[in-house]
Amino acid sequence: MHKTDVLLGLQWGDEGKGKIVDLLAPGYDVIARFQGGPNAGHSLEFDHIKHVLHTIPSGIFHKDKINLIGNGVVIDPVVFKTETEALENLSVSTINTIYISKKAHLILPSHRILDAASESAKGDTKIGSTLKGIGPTYMDKTGRNGLRIGDIQLPDFIEKYNFLKNKHKVILEQYDYYDEPEKYEKEWFTGIEKLRTYNLVESEYFINQLINEKKKILAEGAQGTLLDLDFGSYPYVTSSNTICASACSGLGIAPTKIGEVIGVFKAYCTRVGGGPFPTELKDKNGEKLRNQGKEFGSTTGRPRRCGWLDLPALKYSIMINGVTQLMITKADVLTGFETLKICTGYQTADKSIDSLSFDAEQQPEPVYKKMKGWKSDISEIRKWSNLPKEFTGYINYIENATGIPVTIISLGPDRSSTLFRGKE
Ligand code: GDP
Ligand code: IMO
Ligand code: MG
Repeated sequence: MHKTDVLLGLQWGDEGKGKIVDLLAPGYDVIARFQGGPNAGHSLEFDHIKHVLHTIPSGIFHKDKINLIGNGVVIDPVVFKTETEALENLSVSTINTIYISKKAHLILPSHRILDAASESAKGDTKIGSTLKGIGPTYMDKTGRNGLRIGDIQLPDFIEKYNFLKNKHKVILEQYDYYDEPEKYEKEWFTGIEKLRTYNLVESEYFINQLINEKKKILAEGAQGTLLDLDFGSYPYVTSSNTICASACSGLGIAPTKIGEVIGVFKAYCTRVGGGPFPTELKDKNGEKLRNQGKEFGSTTGRPRRCGWLDLPALKYSIMINGVTQLMITKADVLTGFETLKICTGYQTADKSIDSLSFDAEQQPEPVYKKMKGWKSDISEIRKWSNLPKEFTGYINYIENATGIPVTIISLGPDRSSTLFRGKE
């Protein structure tokens, strides 16, 4: 048996998971999403073209791979249709390579409206949701009211749909916000028809059969550990578990069958939406990171908040996930900074700490280690020994602090802009 490897983000999402999954996909037979939904935006780039995926696993551009959307994912048929059609226009086959769990939940138009209504009611304390209906859909899942992909094959699907929609309309009456779900229904039901043409499977049997056949599986996380429903800065989190354990529950794979846990992190930090961000830079360095890193959301286009690397947060994510190898992205973006800083702990009013606070309203003062930056362009370097010593010092510092090896260094958005450590 090959153990299933799990790849996930260790920060607040957008770590570059899409690029790395696409890069690693040739070594696997199956790429599987296990949580989240169209709140994700996973970019990958090759032949000078950038692609952004929301629901579909990032293995789709590699022929003959199985791309599984697991039971832990929430699916908006409209987004799914747009995404698959864009791929078909590029002659990328989807119909025989995408498999969808019958147990994955459906995002209804009224879930999106509820998401918007809830956010607008929160005012200044809004989460900064992507407004894709993620929270309300997972609420219906845990509340045992949700509609699942398998329901679209049942004779009473329309009744079930109307029942849930009407329930949502009653809830919406409590808000100072209204929109008509009916306006979006034609498009939504067209999306449902599209979904019907795909392989809808009992995905837990399907994936365990593949494991028995010695197929190699890579589970692709969405969002990041610091947005996890339990372990993120609640309530400024997403509505699913984004951690390694979620690959088990979101696919039906036993914990004993998990192999490598690959943690992807940016060389600095970004966050989109509200919530604490101790190392956030609101000065010209923050602007420089945003401009050099093109830090604008892949799903919503919002400017991302930028700041220095936060080691206590990184160590926390490594602990929760049991990370066995690290992959750093966007290292090229740090080129040209006179001085770089890494947060090594925090200072509160009365003590120094290196753990994350329970209270998301607490914003501790970061304590920094300063390091000298490098000036020369590193984006074309493919050998460790050719990298500037300030840069290798930066990586060594992270490895020593975390105790985990950095196996891949990403130096640009393209597939080819990658340094494989020890394999150069
Ligand atoms: P994901 O959600 O984790 O897949 O990440 P996103 O795709 O939302 O955001 C990462 C962004 O950084 C995308 O625009 C990528 O094309 C880009 N990117 C990924 N790796 C690198 C890198 O090493 N260097 C640079 N400059 N950009 C990168
Ligand atoms: P990928 O997979 C970055 C953030 C939103 C908001 C919070 C809750 O591309 O890394 P939600 O719509 O889930 O209810 O929003 O989580 N968020 C992300 N931030 N990358 C993502 O996904 C995100 N998905 C959700 O900005 O702060
Ligand atoms: Mg993203």
